[in-house]
Amino acid sequence: MREGTAPIIRREDYQAPAYWIRTVDLSFDLDPAKTLVINKMTIERNAELPVQSLRLDGEDLNLTRVMVNGEPATFRVENDQLVLDALPDGPFTLEVRNTIAPEKNLQLSGLYTSGGGFFTQCEAQGFRRISYFLDRPDVMAVYTVTLRADAEKYPVLLGNGNLVAQGELDGGRHFAKWHDPFPKPSYLFALVAAKLVSREQKIVSRSGKEHLLQVYVRAGDLDKTEHAMNSLIASVVWDEARFGLPLDLERFMIVAVSDFNMGAMENKGLNIFNTKFVLASPATATDADFANIESVVAHEYFHNWTGNRVTCRDWFQLSLKEGLTVYRDQEFSQDMAGEASARAVKRIEDVRQLRQFQFPEDAGPMAHPVRPEQYQAIDNFYTATVYEKGAEVVRMMATLVGRRGFAKGMTLYFQRHDGQAVTCDDFAQAIADANPGSELAERLDAFKRWYSQAGTPQVTARGAYDAAARTYTLELAQTGTPNPGQPHRLPSVIPFAMGLLASDDGSALPLQLADEPGDTGTHRVLVLAEAEQRFVFVNVDREPVPSLLRGYSAPVHLDAALADTALLTLLQHDSDAFNRWEAGQQLALNRLLAALRGGSTQLDAAFIDAMRGVLRHPTLDAALKELVLTLPSETVVAEELGAEVDPARIHALREGFRLQLAQALRDDWVWAFETQAPIGGYSPDARAAGQRALVNLALSMLVLDATASGDTVWPGRAYQRFKDATSMSERFGALTALVNAHAELAAPALERFHALFADEALVIDKWFALQAGAPEPLGEGAGAVFERVRTLAQHPDFTLRNPNRARSLLMPLTLMNPAAFHRADAAGYVFWADKVVEVDAFNPQLASRLARSLDRWRLLAEPYRSAAREAIARVAARAELSDDTREIVTRSLQ
Ligand code: PHE
Ligand code: ZN
Repeated sequence: MREGTAPIIRREDYQAPAYWIRTVDLSFDLDPAKTLVINKMTIERNAELPVQSLRLDGEDLNLTRVMVNGEPATFRVENDQLVLDALPDGPFTLEVRNTIAPEKNLQLSGLYTSGGGFFTQCEAQGFRRISYFLDRPDVMAVYTVTLRADAEKYPVLLGNGNLVAQGELDGGRHFAKWHDPFPKPSYLFALVAAKLVSREQKIVSRSGKEHLLQVYVRAGDLDKTEHAMNSLIASVVWDEARFGLPLDLERFMIVAVSDFNMGAMENKGLNIFNTKFVLASPATATDADFANIESVVAHEYFHNWTGNRVTCRDWFQLSLKEGLTVYRDQEFSQDMAGEASARAVKRIEDVRQLRQFQFPEDAGPMAHPVRPEQYQAIDNFYTATVYEKGAEVVRMMATLVGRRGFAKGMTLYFQRHDGQAVTCDDFAQAIADANPGSELAERLDAFKRWYSQAGTPQVTARGAYDAAARTYTLELAQTGTPNPGQPHRLPSVIPFAMGLLASDDGSALPLQLADEPGDTGTHRVLVLAEAEQRFVFVNVDREPVPSLLRGYSAPVHLDAALADTALLTLLQHDSDAFNRWEAGQQLALNRLLAALRGGSTQLDAAFIDAMRGVLRHPTLDAALKELVLTLPSETVVAEELGAEVDPARIHALREGFRLQLAQALRDDWVWAFETQAPIGGYSPDARAAGQRALVNLALSMLVLDATASGDTVWPGRAYQRFKDATSMSERFGALTALVNAHAELAAPALERFHALFADEALVIDKWFALQAGAPEPLGEGAGAVFERVRTLAQHPDFTLRNPNRARSLLMPLTLMNPAAFHRADAAGYVFWADKVVEVDAFNPQLASRLARSLDRWRLLAEPYRSAAREAIARVAARAELSDDTREIVTRSLQ
């Protein structure tokens, strides 16, 4: 592992490679302790650049021989790089031999072992841990790979592309040879050698070509692969139908592995997945798990075009593939959800994620533009900004050019760039060029500031109705903080979807701007491109309530200062389901913030009645109801507050509100629990999942109310439901209700749950996560949840070595449970620092993710702030720390 202070890599320093690697012939003699890698490359000098040394990246490699054109060559190793001079002028072959020790590779980057098999992870810079190479995405080569391994221990040998030969070898070994016809960067290389079984499905694509789809898992897990396979088939169909992008391979494989740093990886033709995003059965996976699998399978599959066929020139362009592919998987999930209201539910969930994770990032020490300007460890830039905000940027482009315009833009993008490694500029240019005259094309340079400016812009909206003139004037203004080192921030191009509702009956009003001949319907997208702009609507007969930023048409903070009456109108009547939810959240947020600032801690009748109205609504989606009736998270409240955050106080107030909602709506919760469940056997579809979510919320509220009042009926019913449940969603919902209310029956239920699922690693992860994420009790029992986490860290099932298990305990506590984590006695921070240091010694990527939990320490009130700072400083002071973690803690203290 490399230590010390890594150099800063800057986007402006990009240079084309001095050499091109055209083909790679790799052979592996796989052995956990010592694997031999023979790497034969054909290489050509980049004729456009002056003659330079060839510098190949390497890390933790044991170099044994170097040959040029078949002859031993002189070389040197300099800062991990293999350097060759005086190379032939024309194309030449370079053969490098080295050995590696997969079983010692605990950072899970490069070639490593897991559950007795071999797996690889090469993005972003793992290939250099396998062999010497130009390990950068703009060097694309055609790979032929031969794997040799013990036939009994590793019966399945997989590589990218097509299987071209296989057979037996002496000594109980066997081999397989794979060839991938598509040139690819090294980060998309993969191999698997393990004892696995597969679910297979043949499909015929539109062109009549047959393809083999396979999902590989451990033998006992085959019964949990149906949903992943269905999701893959749906993804193939969708990409061809929506974007005309077909599957370009004869064979497409997904392999599940239980030790994995991230969610999944889009290696060409051989996606490697965290088991969490493959395995699901109704008995072991919740609705959320099913939905996540659908979207991650789709995401990785969509990368085959957006990422693999067209890849990134350099890692600063990461959002080129990630933002676009997240946008595509979000659209896919919306299309799978079906009706408009179910689509809105998916949109709400995505925006919730954005606010929970990306907003804090964009306001904290790790804030960076969607296309970062510099990094030390690239692994630190697989962020919510690059992914989720990047997806919002693509979504805004799609909004500005329309659905068909966007599809045309995609077509042009592939026409221009198929087979190339390109930039975010290239993408935006293609979308704009395919849509001449569009708002995007007209304002492309200004629009692209979304790629270069960090921070969440603030939009202030103020409206005024002039009854006599029958006009409604909407004034929009945008502000934001400039990037570090930049004097000022330039205005963003903000698509601003909106409508007007009549304040008396909530009906939609026709929209006509002053210079327009007639109305344009009741919904439109304004474009805010200046610091301030004014829009005057004419022929407005009735006092309107504005419905602003519909569908969350841009990733901004909106300050509309709407009165409660206006918000209540939107909550009841807006045709935009997203804004109905938003109005409900705003009503709740206003009350939470007012209470924090010394106002009433009692919910008013108007709010409670509105919530009852939503819960009892005859036609609203159950999923939407559940979202509206869930108060904004403590993190969102803290970010809104913006300073002097006392997590314990936010928690106490929010819990107080939750209890009031539980009590005031008791009969309504009973009604929901008893009447809103889906009918029939388990199906993970959006509608049924939403119904179960609402029923689970109702049960949580009923158990909360009952434990507060000492009643035992609802905890008893929850326990019964927990025991009798026919699906994990139901079972886990009932268990959550008991645990979160600190009911006496929580302990026996947890014990029973553990015993039932002792052999299901992913379920045991849930068991840890539930306990670590439970709300701290108020008053006397406060601190119990944190103590429980400390005890669980000693549990025989707990290990930091497996990333899923490590995250299952540490992330819910440090990222999702502010009141348990931030303690006046600093014990949470001490625990955090210990774990960061412990994990950093063997898995820097995992450690640096965990290190980010204290990003927002500056928001905290004393004594938290000083204590948090001290804990970060303690980590930063360590002499031995990975580049990854050092970059995070150093930035955090700056
Ligand atoms: N490229 C992967 C994805 O988004 C994420 C990933 C990054 C996985 C780095 C592993 C390592 O789909
Ligand atoms: Zn991705």
